[in-house]
Amino acid sequence: MTMNDKVLILDFGSQYTQLIARRVRELNIYSEIVPYNKIPENLSPYKAVILSGSPFSVRSEQALIPDLSRIRRKKPLLAICYGAQYLAHFSGGEVGSSKTREYGRANLTYVDQNCDFLKGVPLESQVWMSHSDTINKLPEHGKLLASTKDVTNAAFTIGGEDTYAIQFHPEVYHSEHGTQILKNFLLDIAHLKQNWTPDSFVEMTIDSLKSQLGNDRVLLGLSGGVDSTVAACLLHRAIGKNLYCVFVNNGLLRKNEYQQVLNQYIGLGLNVVGVDASKQFLEALAGESDPETKRKIIGRTFIEVFDQEAHKIENVRWLAQGTIYPDVIESISVSGGPSATIKSHHNVGGLPDFMKLKVVEPLRLLFKDEVRRVGAALGLEAHILGRHPFPGPGLGIRILGDITAEKVSILQEVDAIFIQSLKDWDLYDRVWQAGAILLPINSVGVMGDERTYEQCVALRAVESTDGMTADWVDLPYKFLQDVSNAIINRVSGINRVVYDISSKPPATIEWE
Ligand code: XMP
Repeated sequence: MTMNDKVLILDFGSQYTQLIARRVRELNIYSEIVPYNKIPENLSPYKAVILSGSPFSVRSEQALIPDLSRIRRKKPLLAICYGAQYLAHFSGGEVGSSKTREYGRANLTYVDQNCDFLKGVPLESQVWMSHSDTINKLPEHGKLLASTKDVTNAAFTIGGEDTYAIQFHPEVYHSEHGTQILKNFLLDIAHLKQNWTPDSFVEMTIDSLKSQLGNDRVLLGLSGGVDSTVAACLLHRAIGKNLYCVFVNNGLLRKNEYQQVLNQYIGLGLNVVGVDASKQFLEALAGESDPETKRKIIGRTFIEVFDQEAHKIENVRWLAQGTIYPDVIESISVSGGPSATIKSHHNVGGLPDFMKLKVVEPLRLLFKDEVRRVGAALGLEAHILGRHPFPGPGLGIRILGDITAEKVSILQEVDAIFIQSLKDWDLYDRVWQAGAILLPINSVGVMGDERTYEQCVALRAVESTDGMTADWVDLPYKFLQDVSNAIINRVSGINRVVYDISSKPPATIEWE
């Protein structure tokens, strides 16, 4: 596979930009997002360009103005929402503020059935609008292709160019024929090849890792999660024993997880050392109850332990990380792209400069679901790939207040009952992430004839696609009843169980 069949997506800060990239990739076509003002020098690998939407108005002083001189009339161009308004506003058309609200669903009342761009899109097809400006007049040489009841200029093309513009969002699920429109543009107009597949990615990545790393030694910190595991397997295929993996037990993992996951890594043939640093972490955390300070202590201790191990391996030149594409896009945006308000990611703090290692990130181009598909192409088992996300600071941010070995052990028991029950009830795969939280309060209960005054746990199970937003899962009452009974009967020290019914936002998934 060559990387000469790419789509360039220029980001104007829309909340949907990542979705555009995903939809393109779902068509097995590779796409890359760059900020609107960082157009690559070499455009030859890009066979088409897409302009995203934006929270800004083309009419305002903060309008984002790209330099499209190397793109327009030279590459097929698809402009979405703000992109469409930009084309209209700066090319002889007119954009004004909408008279009616244009958010949510609308239906096409006119479609040019003869153009390749809207082939297979019927009248009345539902589209998704999200804009407050509207195009009142098409740009010079503009030709109308589609309208809705409230938006006359919902889609247009510009004569003499392979340029298409749509006011609605083809990338969102609620635009019924959105994928069809993207497919028409990418295949029939831009003539891209559909050669972006998990197998081609594995092949291409292994080749490039081999030439990038040669005979160098690489260090990788395994977390037990999907990303670091898939990254390790790719690197292992590329450089074999030159990959040195370290798996640290911070004493805050799930019950039996350290040994199980370590065995699993050994079973995969990885060159891995397990370091049981539980004591070091718990000592460093003793008496601390402030959430941020706890996170910092855990992060710092991890680096200390990891650094000690790194020094045992001679001539290590590289540090491998399981960074994935959303982390990369967020950090690009944070440092200059238009969507600068996104919170900085807590997974990619990175290691300190004193480690003096070059960084290699084999998954930095993939979305989470693509990582899973690549993992499957590498032969990883479903139970490894389907594992719920688990935070780096582990149970440390699920024990509210200070952390002791006893509290960890209580929470491990509760968590194990909850997770095993989800599996027994076939609910595990319906849930994106689940866990238990040990609350810093005691409450009165009665067991047998005895009064008890013991701790309380909260159970949390959420649905999500990326952890950025989440909703609590409507678990069956009978399930909750069984789990609650099992926890109270089997875990001494707990006499009360509650279920967290808060969505994110306004809550977060973790309690700390
Ligand atoms: P929140 O609590 O921010 O969590 O809604 C969103 C997702 O991120 C995970 N999370 C972390 N993962 N290191 C990690 O590796 C962290 O410090 C961390 N904090 C939260 C959380 O489990 C959820 O999946």
